[in-house]
Amino acid sequence: MSGMVEAREAQAHPMIAVPTHDELVEQLFVRDLKMFVMQSLEPTQQAISARVAPEIVAQASNNPVDDLRERMLGFESFKTWLGLKRESQRQLWAAVGGSVERQADELEALADIPAPRGSVTVDPAFAAPDYIARGDIHLMPGGNAHDDGSVLQGAVMDRGGAVYMLGRNGGMLNDLRGQTAIAHLLTIAPDIQPSRILDMGCGIGTSTVPAAICFPDAEVHGIDVGASMMRYAHARAEHLGAAVHFSQQSAEHTDFESGSFDVVYSCVVLHETSQAAMANILAESRRLLRPGGIAIHLEVPLIHTFGDLWQELSAELEAQFNNEPNWRGALSADYAQLMRAAGFADVRAGYQSTAFDARSAPKEFGDTSHGVFRSWFVTSGRA
Ligand SMILES: C[S@@+](CC[C@H](N)C(=O)[O-])C[C@H]1O[C@@H](n2cnc3c(N)ncnc32)[C@H](O)[C@@H]1O
Repeated sequence: MSGMVEAREAQAHPMIAVPTHDELVEQLFVRDLKMFVMQSLEPTQQAISARVAPEIVAQASNNPVDDLRERMLGFESFKTWLGLKRESQRQLWAAVGGSVERQADELEALADIPAPRGSVTVDPAFAAPDYIARGDIHLMPGGNAHDDGSVLQGAVMDRGGAVYMLGRNGGMLNDLRGQTAIAHLLTIAPDIQPSRILDMGCGIGTSTVPAAICFPDAEVHGIDVGASMMRYAHARAEHLGAAVHFSQQSAEHTDFESGSFDVVYSCVVLHETSQAAMANILAESRRLLRPGGIAIHLEVPLIHTFGDLWQELSAELEAQFNNEPNWRGALSADYAQLMRAAGFADVRAGYQSTAFDARSAPKEFGDTSHGVFRSWFVTSGRA
C-alpha cells in the first residue's frame, strides 16, 4: 500500500476486517487493477473520443451520446476498458467479501459493545426505496439494504469502501468527505456550537464520526437504509470513541421532529437516489432544521454543465455498469435552485477543499474544483 494508506491504517479501528497476507495481496491486486483501468486505459478512451466527437457534432445528430457510444464500440480498447472497469469492481467485492466472511465470529464479538455511548435502532418493517432495492449499487452483492441479522454487510462496505476509494479518501478511515462537510460548516459558521446534528445516508458512519469528534458535546445522529450497516456503524463509532445514535430510516421521510436539529448534512448520497428523492431529501433536511440551522449536502466534485460528449457518455456508463441510479441526474442538477426550492436561504453551491481534519483544515470554498479527492462539491443553506 502507499505510504498514506499505511499511515492511516495505523489509526484505523478494531472493527475493520483485517486481511491475511494472501487476502491483502488480492485486495492490492484489485486496487492496482482499478488504478490501471482509471489512469492508463481511460485517458486513451477520452483521447479517442476527442477525435471522434467533432464528427458526430458536425452531423447534428439527435442522439449524439448514443452515436458516440456506437462509434466507441468499434474500438477494441474501449470494449476492453469497459469490461475491465466492471470486472475489477466485481473482483473488489469478491476479494473483500471472502475476507470478511472468514472473520464473521470475531466481528460479531467486537460488535457486542458492553457500555455503549451511542445507540442503534433497526426497523424490521423498513422497506428500502426502489432505487436502493432494484439493484446492487456499486455492484456490492446484496446491496446497501442487505441484512441477515449480522454486521457483515457493513463490514464489507467498510473495507471495500476504503479499497474502492483506492486509499485516497483518508485511507482505511475513509472519512475525508465527513471532514470536508464539517470544514464547510466551520467555513460558513466558524463559531457554531451545534447541539444536535444529523448525517443523512450515513452508510457505516465514516462521515458521521468526524462530526461527533469535532463537536463532542453535540448529540449526533446517523440514518441509512440498511440494518447491517447501522449495526456495524454503531460498533465502528464506539470503537473510535464517538457517541452516535444510528437508526434505520429513509432520509426522504424521517421520524425526527420538525425543527429539532442545528445541522443536517449528507455526503455523496444524492447520486444514489432519484430525481424525486433528491427533492424529498433536501426538503426533509429543511424540515428538520430549527430556524437559522444549516444544511450541507456534499457530492462528487464532477458537477458540470452537460455538453461535453465524453463526460455525458461517461456518466451513462457509470450509471449502467456500476449501478449508480442517479449519477447523471445528480451531476447535472442545479443545486442552488433545488436548495432554494426546498426553502433554504443563504444558499451556496461550490467546491470545498478536502479537509483531513475539519477544525485545522484551511477553510477554502469557491467556484473552482481542484479535482477529484482534492475538493468536493458542496451546497448549503440556512433554514
Ligand atoms: C456512497 S454512500 C455514502 C455513505 C456515507 N455518507 C459516506 O460518506 O461514507 C451513499 C449512502 O446513501 C444511502 N442512501 C441512499 N438513499 C437513502 C435514503 N433515502 N435514506 C437513507 N440513506 C440513503 C445509501 O444506502 C448509502 O449508504
